[in-house]
Amino acid sequence: KTSFTSVKSLTESPELTSLPPSYIFTTNSDEEDHEIVSEPDKDDPIPIIDYSLLVLGTPHERAKTIHDLGRACEEWGFFMLINHSVAKSVMEKMVDQVFAFFNLREEEKQEYASKDVMDPIRYGTSSNVSMDKVLFWRDFLKIVVHPEFHSPDKPLGFREAAAEYCRRTWKVGKELLKGISENLGLEANYIENTMNLDYGLQMIAANLYPPCPQPELAMGIPPHSDHGLLNILMQNGVSGLQVLHNGKWINVTSTPNCFLLFVSDHLEVVSNGKYKSVLHRAVVSNKATRMSLAIVIAPSLDTVVEPAKELLDDERNPAAYVGMKHRDYMQLQRSNRLDGKSVLDKVK
Ligand code: SIN
Ligand code: FE2
Repeated sequence: KTSFTSVKSLTESPELTSLPPSYIFTTNSDEEDHEIVSEPDKDDPIPIIDYSLLVLGTPHERAKTIHDLGRACEEWGFFMLINHSVAKSVMEKMVDQVFAFFNLREEEKQEYASKDVMDPIRYGTSSNVSMDKVLFWRDFLKIVVHPEFHSPDKPLGFREAAAEYCRRTWKVGKELLKGISENLGLEANYIENTMNLDYGLQMIAANLYPPCPQPELAMGIPPHSDHGLLNILMQNGVSGLQVLHNGKWINVTSTPNCFLLFVSDHLEVVSNGKYKSVLHRAVVSNKATRMSLAIVIAPSLDTVVEPAKELLDDERNPAAYVGMKHRDYMQLQRSNRLDGKSVLDKVK
């Protein structure tokens, strides 16, 4: 049976005053130009998309929102989503249950420790203990919730909270993909149909970043892009997320109740590179525990993800990516060290 030392249990041992060496994170020197961290520029703010205008707006408002959505996907691969229709109480219940899970006794959580990346419920630390040279300051819980719903049995109430939260965010994801399809010049249901979203993969990826004794030496999660089409993220009000934009790491301080949306690798592939999946990372702090909760909206595992044929043109826009089954893509991603866009590069 697999078991491991979680970051949380480490921080609860009283003698921890410095960072254990295995957590010291160093970057390659050729990545140094990526080390500039900055606040969003007043003249180039993080895009904000109003979901209510997309689904309930006048035809004119909807058209403008779809246009803005397209620009956000092209220029940032990232945006804030406001007025997203998921009730505050539904979000709060989910956050409470995620904390309740991480607060279970270590033995109870370790029942879900797993080395098999295809297991539907996985509790772990770092992202790939077997291949990373360094460990990351992060514990996680990953659960497959669609097409089949899974949930840990504990804590009590987790199942109900997760079912509701996942149902709501799935709807948000599908509506956004309609707008995105239209922005690409495709039929509204194009992505939903070609990616077989009736059997699509939806996952919860919850991350816990306990306070770190030497945060400047550690990394919560190193730079990477996500598999899937979209990632819908919320967090507990503690910052730490940074997205790469025009060569700078931008600190994302999120407004309460909004969602943070990431363009993921498969949307880059379907759009034939018109939209770029966004590189992001999470840094840690010594002050507070940070929690983030990602909802991955992805094609069914049997879908071969390739550029939309309707967008291709032998001369002006030849296919820039080869097709790959989502299942194979995921296996590749999970068996590689998390490292920028190294998996996406394999289908280029
Ligand atoms: C992730 O990339 O999965 C986590 C990002 C975050 O914690 O904000
Ligand atoms: Fe991510």
